[in-house]
Amino acid sequence: MPGKVAKIGTFSDWIGLFNDWRKEIGVNTKDIEAFQFDTLYGAIETEDIEFGSYKGRRKWENLRQMPTQQMRDALLNMIVYQGDTEFASVEQQRNLLDNAPTDWDRRAITRVMIEEMRHGWQMCALLVDHFGYSGKVEAQKMLERRAFENKRLLGAFNVDVDNWMDFFTYTDFVDRDGKFQLQMLKYSAFAPLGRSMSYMLREEAFHMGTGNDGLRRIVEAGIIPAWLIQKYLNKWISSSYDLFGTDHSSSAHWAYVWGIKGRYDEPKNEKAADLDDLNDYNRNLYRDEVAGLIERFNLSLQPGEPRLYAPDIKFNRAIGRWAGQKFHAKTGEPLDGRAYEEHLKEYMPSAADKKLLLEIIGNERKWIAEKAGARDPLASIAEVRKSAINL
Ligand SMILES: [Fe+2]
Ligand SMILES: [Fe+2]
Repeated sequence: MPGKVAKIGTFSDWIGLFNDWRKEIGVNTKDIEAFQFDTLYGAIETEDIEFGSYKGRRKWENLRQMPTQQMRDALLNMIVYQGDTEFASVEQQRNLLDNAPTDWDRRAITRVMIEEMRHGWQMCALLVDHFGYSGKVEAQKMLERRAFENKRLLGAFNVDVDNWMDFFTYTDFVDRDGKFQLQMLKYSAFAPLGRSMSYMLREEAFHMGTGNDGLRRIVEAGIIPAWLIQKYLNKWISSSYDLFGTDHSSSAHWAYVWGIKGRYDEPKNEKAADLDDLNDYNRNLYRDEVAGLIERFNLSLQPGEPRLYAPDIKFNRAIGRWAGQKFHAKTGEPLDGRAYEEHLKEYMPSAADKKLLLEIIGNERKWIAEKAGARDPLASIAEVRKSAINL
């Protein structure tokens, strides 16, 4: 908002706001309170800019080295959007700490929340350390928006994640969108952003693993019917498609030309980038990965259950060329208005579906298979960061 006055002068001032935010949204449990938050930098593959107009030149270490103000603004914007999703996800999941299906899951969600807060912290550290007054204002605003007041910057991050089916589907697929975004920023010409990504990506792997294995445990338990699981896949995967942004996006175009954000497969992709179609290119890579993971769930399905699938890329979209149009979730065929209304009832979770789900979770002790042979998530949390380089 224009005219906003920064209350913070230094990063320690920001930490004070962060501590207040944790208390205010109600996630300051003993385990979380005890965690030592920190800024972590890791190695990047190369010190030279990897793509775009400045390819081959030295990566930038600070904003003064960046050629134009437009480029600095685009970079600031990327960091703000990334950080916003991190704090938002904690707000979305905040009510699940008390009702985990097992103690392992409670410790896993605690770790996921700690690491998402650390990711938000990392983005705010970049803003405060590199972007002067406007960075401080943005870092402060990051803790003022609320997912549950519909104020977070991207749609999927304002939706409640208020049951454990949502949680596992979210961490498997929305966090996987996160992995794609982080990977694309890891190639950034702004070196401190690239170096921030290595640890965030390692942490992200635990979130996706928790989600993917949680869904496998649900499929394996065979208590929640596959048709109901499919509805949750349709809900979260379709909104994850949106997270890749509009088709023919000019901001993606310029972020690539300026070397700020690459394609997901940048280092091994030898073809010249189609600058007009970057978001959709990455979105399709994401869809392929997701479809492969869902095929694996099908190996654990009870006999006679319908096979699970990734929804069609055109289904239930709110962003891009298919936004607001009507397509079949499985086949991608166009549907007319009346048929589509019925279709949504069959393919997206309704209030009655949610009621059924909560009844199953509340009454069937074995709705999810035990987590076998896994280590305590809070005991292994420090391992990923042993080799961090703190610049
Ligand atoms: Fe994250
Ligand atoms: Fe995550």
